[in-house]
Amino acid sequence: MAPAFSWQADFVVGDAEMDETHVEFVDCVNALLTADDDALSQALERFADHARRHFSLEDQAMRRSVYDNAKCHVDEHAAVLRSVDEVRAALAEGRVSVVRAFAQALADWFPEHARVMDQGLAGWLAKCRLGGSPVRIQRRPVAQA
Ligand SMILES: [Fe+2]
Ligand SMILES: [Fe+2]
Repeated sequence: MAPAFSWQADFVVGDAEMDETHVEFVDCVNALLTADDDALSQALERFADHARRHFSLEDQAMRRSVYDNAKCHVDEHAAVLRSVDEVRAALAEGRVSVVRAFAQALADWFPEHARVMDQGLAGWLAKCRLGGSPVRIQRRPVAQA
């Protein structure tokens, strides 16, 4: 079966640790989108564990580097974590459709979050470390014949 949510070249932010974490995010969300009802709880807990680590990594990096644009970014992370708790409660009541809608909402949310907020943070971290922006290596789109 083709993945419901798969890695795209433009998710790359150019920070090795963040990119590695984002590959795991995509994998967790894909698992949540494609899990059978019986496996949904396990997939949700795997995503919850991932999200706590993922967002704490970025929140700490923003705090450590005194990042000016941190507020909206930290708030978005916190909103996702609050949703995880609500979705977990819904699943405990057998409301499977809530989990499926949440998984789709995550797949819809991530590309813009990565492109704007995570890429902005990666650029800032690179500037702090090296005095320059990270190099994003991306394949060019294939020209149509
Ligand atoms: Fe991220
Ligand atoms: Fe983020």
